[in-house]
Amino acid sequence: MKIVVIGGTGLIGSNLVNKLRQLGHEVSAASPSSGVNTITGEGLSEVLAGAEVVVDVSNSPSFEDQAVLEFFQTSTRNLLEAEATAGVKHHVALSVVGTDRLQGSGYFRAKLVQENLIKDSSIPYSILRATQFFEFVGAIANSGIVDGKTHLPPALFQPIASEDVVLALVKVVAGSPLEGTLEVAGPERIQMDEIVRRYLSIMQDHREVVTDDDAPYFGVVINDQSLTASEDAMIGKMSYQDWISDPANQR
Ligand SMILES: NC(=O)c1ccc[n+]([C@@H]2O[C@H](COP(=O)([O-])OP(=O)(O)OC[C@H]3O[C@@H](n4cnc5c(N)ncnc54)[C@H](OP(=O)(O)O)[C@@H]3O)[C@@H](O)[C@H]2O)c1
Repeated sequence: MKIVVIGGTGLIGSNLVNKLRQLGHEVSAASPSSGVNTITGEGLSEVLAGAEVVVDVSNSPSFEDQAVLEFFQTSTRNLLEAEATAGVKHHVALSVVGTDRLQGSGYFRAKLVQENLIKDSSIPYSILRATQFFEFVGAIANSGIVDGKTHLPPALFQPIASEDVVLALVKVVAGSPLEGTLEVAGPERIQMDEIVRRYLSIMQDHREVVTDDDAPYFGVVINDQSLTASEDAMIGKMSYQDWISDPANQR
């Protein structure tokens, strides 16, 4: 099957491209660094010619409110239009668990716009919503810094190894379009402030983490339900402890 992975050079995309190739698919890793740009349209019709499935795992270069909105809006519109012309049969996109509950955040407003454009298009689709990647815990540690201390809420969340997200995407790609949304999450619910303390301790980073109920997560105050997955979510295998114990992940 010919599959195009938009964002095929990113964290999720590069691993997904490798796994799909190992399964014998003809896979194009499409991104600006390979001459395909969903914002300008460069290389898009050429890479989509003959493709059956498109997986969009791209991300905005900027998370500033207006920039991220423009990215997902323009990119998704251009992509879906080009897919309709090319006769693509399945559009798969990666989104985030809780996107609809986090609309106080510019990033999540942009992800919801992306999801709605997909639902309103004529291309059969599947949306996979994942929880935060283990690889993203460092970025969480770097957010919410006040006077050199990281302020984070004690809210439960359910992070996942990006490897487990890729395995879930491989399953979605192999199946028929869901015409709906599926969730994938990590095996444990963990307090956000606690996981960041564990991460900083392993990284020998002596920054203090202040537990603060009102500290926002990328602009939104969250509770135990905001980022955790529903009961019927697919669950990844890898625990955070096993993942962070691997020196390759201590970067
Ligand atoms: N981080 C998390 O915890 C998390 C959780 C759930 C879901 N997600 C979702 O997962 C997705 C992938 O995240 P990631 O961390 O794997 O992303 P990433 O590593 O930042 O990679 C982003 C990819 O997007 C490509 N890209 C940027 N601008 C583009 C454009 N104009 N046209 C085509 N491709 C473009 C980049 O290409 P170049 O390399 O050429 O610049 C790169 O391949 C995102 O949609 C995000 O919302 C993330």
